Amino acid sequence: MELFSEERSAEVVAESFGQTADPRLREVMTSLVKHLHAFVKDVELTEAEWAVAIDFLTRTGQKCDESRQEFILLSDVLGVSMLVETINHRSGGGSTESTVLGPFHVVESPPRELGDLIALDGKGAPCLVSGQVTGPSSEPVKGATVDVWQANEDGFYDVQQPGIQPVGNLRGLFTTDADGRFWFRSVVPRFYPIPSDGPVGELLSATGRHPYRPAHLHFIVTAPGYRSVTTHVFVDDSPYLDSDAVFGVKDSLVRAVPSVDDPERAAAAGLGNPFRTLTFDLRLLES
Ligand SMILES: [Fe+2]
Repeated sequence: MELFSEERSAEVVAESFGQTADPRLREVMTSLVKHLHAFVKDVELTEAEWAVAIDFLTRTGQKCDESRQEFILLSDVLGVSMLVETINHRSGGGSTESTVLGPFHVVESPPRELGDLIALDGKGAPCLVSGQVTGPSSEPVKGATVDVWQANEDGFYDVQQPGIQPVGNLRGLFTTDADGRFWFRSVVPRFYPIPSDGPVGELLSATGRHPYRPAHLHFIVTAPGYRSVTTHVFVDDSPYLDSDAVFGVKDSLVRAVPSVDDPERAAAAGLGNPFRTLTFDLRLLES
């Protein structure tokens, strides 16, 4: 084996993976070593900086538990989550665009009936959320599963505030009707900061970045025979649409949330009048 040298470090280490049986693992490790060594050489990393990096990653791991995923946050703020999502869900414009899963889909959403209220904490501006799931030929997708979750009016997900928010607050698992339609009662989503009391927050503050995400509602839509879509719908008048801390915004996912003054419709929906409406239709590709 060639001995280690500064000039040929990447090649020497990459060669050590030359006997890897799994060709994909060999490819990934070879490329990782190549880029990692190039990075270290590019910035001429000092020993003190290397120790800071090890400590940062250690603390990132230690910050993780069943409701906090600091590594996903790190991946998010570095744009890696969005890049992986984008590479893996190229749709050529044929389906609803995807965006990041985010770190808060850590519990199963409770199954609910169409029309149910998911805002269990009584906060926020009432909003009727509805849409239709269709396939490539505009055919309605009956029986699609629509998994939704959002932060509350105070900017937190239920899992961030156990004992403060009701369990399952602002989460729901719905099934589309015969026309592929879904609807439920919620509140207008609000912008919020990603958790900034850990290593990722330190990184943001050291680099002069804010931790905010524009107002959004998360969706995962799945149906047999179709490719599932993980996405958000964003509120068009929210702050931070042009500076999302996790780079998740796509123009095609932004919607207006108009106010509706219609006492009859409000009564039928089980909402006070006037109320806001958010319409988000989703198009799936065949699998
Ligand atoms: Fe979110």
